[in-house]
Order: sequence, then C-alpha cells, then structure tokens
Amino acid sequence: MFPLNRNRRLRQSPAVRALVRETSLSPADFIAPIFVVEGRQVREEIPSMPNYYRLSLDLVSAEVKSLWTLGIKSVLVFVKVPDALKDNRGKEAVNPQGLMQRAVAEIKSTCPEMVVMTDVALDPYSVHGHDGIVEGSTIVNDPTVEVLTQMALSHIEAGADFVAPSDMMDGRVLRIRQAFEAAGHTNAGILSYSAKYASAYYGPFRDALDSAPGFGDKKTYQMDYANRREAIVEAQNDIDEGADIIMVKPGLCYLDIVRELRDAVEVPIAAYQVSGEYAQLKAAAQKGWLDHDAVMIEQLYAFKRAGADLIATYFAADAARLL
Ligand code: PBG
Repeated sequence: MFPLNRNRRLRQSPAVRALVRETSLSPADFIAPIFVVEGRQVREEIPSMPNYYRLSLDLVSAEVKSLWTLGIKSVLVFVKVPDALKDNRGKEAVNPQGLMQRAVAEIKSTCPEMVVMTDVALDPYSVHGHDGIVEGSTIVNDPTVEVLTQMALSHIEAGADFVAPSDMMDGRVLRIRQAFEAAGHTNAGILSYSAKYASAYYGPFRDALDSAPGFGDKKTYQMDYANRREAIVEAQNDIDEGADIIMVKPGLCYLDIVRELRDAVEVPIAAYQVSGEYAQLKAAAQKGWLDHDAVMIEQLYAFKRAGADLIATYFAADAARLL
C-alpha cells in the first residue's frame, strides 16, 4: 500500500531494473530459418520478406558459420523445390540426394556443432501445395504419415539433429519416433509443430517457397484459430508420442497459447514468429512508422515472458547482433 510500496523504486535506474528483470533474451534462444534453393551463387531476396534471402547451397555454409559466430545455436532448414520435381506423393522429399538432404550434410560438415532442424511436410514438394497427399479434395492422413516418416528418416540419416514436423497430420510423431528407434537413431530429436493454426500470416513464406495451396485451404489439418483448449490436446498427444520440444505457431497473436501450454506441460516450448509477422514490422519500419530494432526486441521479449524457451524467428541474426 502506498507510500509503503512505491513500485517505481524498482525502476529507478538501469542497474536496478537489470537486477529485478524477470526474463532474459539471448541468441541461444533463437532458431534461425534458412531457405535453400538449387544453383550456385544464388542470393535472392524474398519480395515480401525484405532483407531475407533464398540461398544456394554454396552460400549456405558461410551463412550458417556467421549465425554461429553470432551465438545462434540452431537453424531450421526449408527448401524451394523446382516444379519439375513436384508430385502428389512427395517422392523427391525422400530422395537421399535431394536438396534438403544435401543442405543438411553441407551444414553439418562445415559447422558440426550447429543444431540442424529440418521442416517435415510435403507442401514444398507437392503439386497441390498441400502438406499431405491429396485424394480427390481430401488430404489423406495415414498414407501421408508413411511418407513423412521416410522423409524424417532421410533427414536424420543425412545428419540432421532434429526433425520438425509441420504438417499437422495425426499420429506422425509416433510413427517418426518408432522409425527412429527401430533404426537405432535414439538421439534424433523431434520438435513438433503441435499447435499450428491455419493462419493468413504464412503468406510471405509461401511466396518464398512457391508453396501456396493450389486449391482450398489448410483448415482440415491446421488448427482453428478460435480454439485454445485444443492446443493442449495436440501438445499432450505429441509429447505422449515422443516429441522432445513442442511448438506454437504463429507467434505474437498466439502468446496466450504459449502461456497455456507453459502452464500445462513440462517439455521445452518453442514459438514461431512467422513470415507475416516479420513482413509487418519490416513494412512499418520502411515507412518510418515503427522503430524497427526497438519493436523487434520488445516482441522477442514478449515471447520469453509468455513462456517460450525458444523462438524461431527471421529476426534471429538482426537481434543477435543487437544483443
Ligand atoms: C510448411 C510450413 C509453413 C510454415 C512453416 N512450415 C507453411 C504452411 O504451413 O503453409 C510457415 C512459416 C512462416 O510463415 O514463416 N508446412
């Protein structure tokens, strides 16, 4: 009660504020997404993601080394697949010589300590731009899970440390975990996109990978953004099936879900600040309407305060440089 309590006492100087700060932010909290394309010396800016690039394999290693130097411990690899290699069943996704598999091997050979995570879903490989196999107008669950399992195995065999299934098929974590155990990959990690919502914030990412759905939307597999309790069910299922880390996606609009899960489960939680969130801040900053760096750091702290242990973010390098 005032004046016995004056809350401003704890805000009076930078040193006092530092003493009582409840959360911290460091480059080790970040997972940096990387977009890989075929070719040599390719560094293409993604139009809706200013200052973010698709890189050919020969440029990926230098990028990863520079991220490591900044204190970033993990990258999440995505590939842009040439149209000629796309089909309905993800045949290229399981090619041991595919772009993803080569990218993983390349990164691990030049920066062995970097924790390499791979996206597991069929959309970049799909003629339909869907995360699973399409039959009629249905994205079929169980046949998709079989392909995703082979895909995950091929990533681990190429040297990946973690796979990150982002497809939202039911039961995929269990199948992947069983396959890893059967093959003796007892240390292979699974970071599961557990609470992944059907979101319009993925737009710029789909530009980056040319992976927008050709028909319909993803609402029969990604979650309805009106729902909160369902996120706990999804997360609990994934943990029971063998996930090591769970993820919430998108980020800022879903911090209530991060907190809900933080209170419900004990495994590490990642949050994904997605492409549309990145685009929003870049656009406002380009117009001079927001202070880019200040807003970026404030947003990243918000993830930590909500309860995220890890943040997948396109700001990873920018933020690490500031911190
Ligand atoms: C693929 C995948 C998507 C994202 C990550 N993995 C797109 C989608 O589900 O449509 C989105 C990432 C972002 O927007 O930054 N399944």
